[in-house]
Amino acid sequence: MASIKKTRIAVLPGDGIGPEVTEQAVKVLDAVSERFGTHFEYCYAEVGAVAIDHTGSPLPDATLEACLHADAVLFGAIGHPKYDNDPDAKVRPEQGLLKLRKELGLFANIRPVTTYEKLLHLSPLRPEKIKGVDVVIFRELTGGIYFGEKGTTADGRTAYDTCTYTVEEIERIARLAFEQARRRRNKLTLVDKANVMETSRLWRRSLRELASEYPDVELDFMFVDNAAMQLIQYPGQFDVILTENLFGDVLSDEASVLTGSMGLLPSASIGVHTSLFEPIHGSYPQAAGQDIANPMAAILSAAMLVEALGMQEAATAIRFSVQHILEKGIGTQELQPAIVYSCSQIGDLAAHLVADPREEILVKTDKISQGISTII
Ligand code: IPM
Ligand code: MN
Repeated sequence: MASIKKTRIAVLPGDGIGPEVTEQAVKVLDAVSERFGTHFEYCYAEVGAVAIDHTGSPLPDATLEACLHADAVLFGAIGHPKYDNDPDAKVRPEQGLLKLRKELGLFANIRPVTTYEKLLHLSPLRPEKIKGVDVVIFRELTGGIYFGEKGTTADGRTAYDTCTYTVEEIERIARLAFEQARRRRNKLTLVDKANVMETSRLWRRSLRELASEYPDVELDFMFVDNAAMQLIQYPGQFDVILTENLFGDVLSDEASVLTGSMGLLPSASIGVHTSLFEPIHGSYPQAAGQDIANPMAAILSAAMLVEALGMQEAATAIRFSVQHILEKGIGTQELQPAIVYSCSQIGDLAAHLVADPREEILVKTDKISQGISTII
């Protein structure tokens, strides 16, 4: 078992339900320490609306420092309704995340969309369409229209956002996507708008060239409008999807609801400096502080975190704990499970299962369904 001496994790709980779901992921990481003998050292820092309230900045320097000095960043969520409908707001929580992406060089956002047998009925698609779907989206995260030149003319009547990409930006994420495809089902789909956009044509040319280095991976191309449709009609056709920043923003949200359980989807943003791991569900302010949010996406983000640090066995243990909880019919309310658990109860149970996956413990969870829980 690979054991890392001391691993520094910057924990950025952020806004809304961010703090409560992150707390559960930390419990699980502590359980990883207990079982695998690693030592995680946490450094908590503020980001988003909460950071604006306290410091005026959505990404205070101290937070950025903490991230730059960490081996990994565990991120909760950002966003607050008071900023959402105000186009004139000078500072926004989202700016904190965008700055963090740029500063840490988080160029590849990886979102696996996994289906769970027990939850197929929650999908907006018919079960036979969604069954077995297992897609990973690679979204370019530090280029394109998000970060290109933008502005508004002096008269305020014209505005522009520019989309720019370099071959280097395309190739570094494409290599990650090809390698991932190799570890999976050897299929890579580049989603673009090459019938209209010059940058998309550069993506295609770059990918075609790289493809010769990955002859075992089947590469195909799809226009983004078609991809949006195909994701709904035949999601099972996709293995790894690679796309630029803005298309990836839209398609990854679309893909995330296919499984019917957005509360289960983690993500990794792989960086030049330190990589960042976050649930994709956002801050969900309506549920904040009520201990009802689903912490599974945050817990599975912790699995991606330990995996990125080379702790494959710990990652498998974490994923197994979530799988096991679901199979027992346990979940937070939005999953409409047989047994409703709170956010913190799910965290406690997952941590127990990670720390000690012995048969007796697994069996004991059966008693939960009879109202007898010896674990929690
Ligand atoms: C995401 C979010 C961000 C984005 C926002 C919060 C800036 O929607 O992570 O997908 O658009 O990238
Ligand atoms: Mn988004």
